[in-house]
Amino acid sequence: MDVLRLERVGYRYPDGRAALEDLNISIRAGDRVALVGPNGAGKSTLLHLMAGLYLPSTGKLSIMGVEVTRRSAEAARRHVGLLFQDPDDQIFMPSVWEDVAFGPMNYGLGESEVKQRVQEAMHMTGIEGFEERVPHRLSLGEKKRVAMAGLLAMSPDILLLDEPTANLDPQGRRDFVDVLDRRKETIVIATHDLAVAFHLADKVLVLKRSVLYDGGFAGLVQNEAVLQEARLELPSFSRLMQSWAKETGKSFRPPLTVQEALEVLRNNYCCRGDGH
Ligand SMILES: Nc1ncnc2c1ncn2[C@@H]1O[C@H](COP(=O)(O)OP(=O)(O)O)[C@@H](O)[C@H]1O
Ligand SMILES: [Mg+2]
Repeated sequence: MDVLRLERVGYRYPDGRAALEDLNISIRAGDRVALVGPNGAGKSTLLHLMAGLYLPSTGKLSIMGVEVTRRSAEAARRHVGLLFQDPDDQIFMPSVWEDVAFGPMNYGLGESEVKQRVQEAMHMTGIEGFEERVPHRLSLGEKKRVAMAGLLAMSPDILLLDEPTANLDPQGRRDFVDVLDRRKETIVIATHDLAVAFHLADKVLVLKRSVLYDGGFAGLVQNEAVLQEARLELPSFSRLMQSWAKETGKSFRPPLTVQEALEVLRNNYCCRGDGH
């Protein structure tokens, strides 16, 4: 089943600005989709639609097989957790514990169930011991973990993540990727970081008001026109390998991971550890 389905969806902000046009997207249960595109491409707008927070201006959007309308939106939202681009838009309770517990409490769950969910979510995101901390005094990386814990505590079927690793230090970024790596939910992750996208996702949507590309990464990295149009930049090791290919006249698909880059080098240069 398609857990998210958009048919000819357009979205116009109340001031008249057309942020999205004619989107046809289907995402199946368990898919991991990277959403990439330049600033202003409409990534955050699309995630708000997919979360049932905005209603399409035109076309049809379904979440878990149910068309999202003014009437059905509230029920649809229960299936989806959106991690906002800015955690300050998401965390607002006086303590971390209350913040993470806010969603499950709102669902009317019993005290012990809430406690268990909060503990699990805090464990998964590595913020045990933060229960009494004041959320707005935390570092950006810590705030993002709190916001993520709040999402996980609601156990949604679909996780929508709006630039979750932006502005995190390398360790914070790796920790976040590790948390996501272990998830089984359907994931849509908006990111500028193609290395994170390659690692976490198995398909990619390139957005610039409309969908420029929908498919696998291998096709995308060879599609110069789309890369340029969306102003995407391949990871540095990938660009290094492209330059090397040009210089040596070798031909291979730009590698998506360091491991793939190593494979290419081994196959094209040498096969023994001593460099011969
Ligand atoms: N609340 C708003 N009102 C009017 N226009 C908006 C609003 N939010 C975003 N936009 C516009 O919609 C377009 C898409 O924005 P956004 O979804 O935030 O893009 P992205 O997340 O890819 O950077 C941009 O042109 C932006 O200026
Ligand atoms: Mg955005």
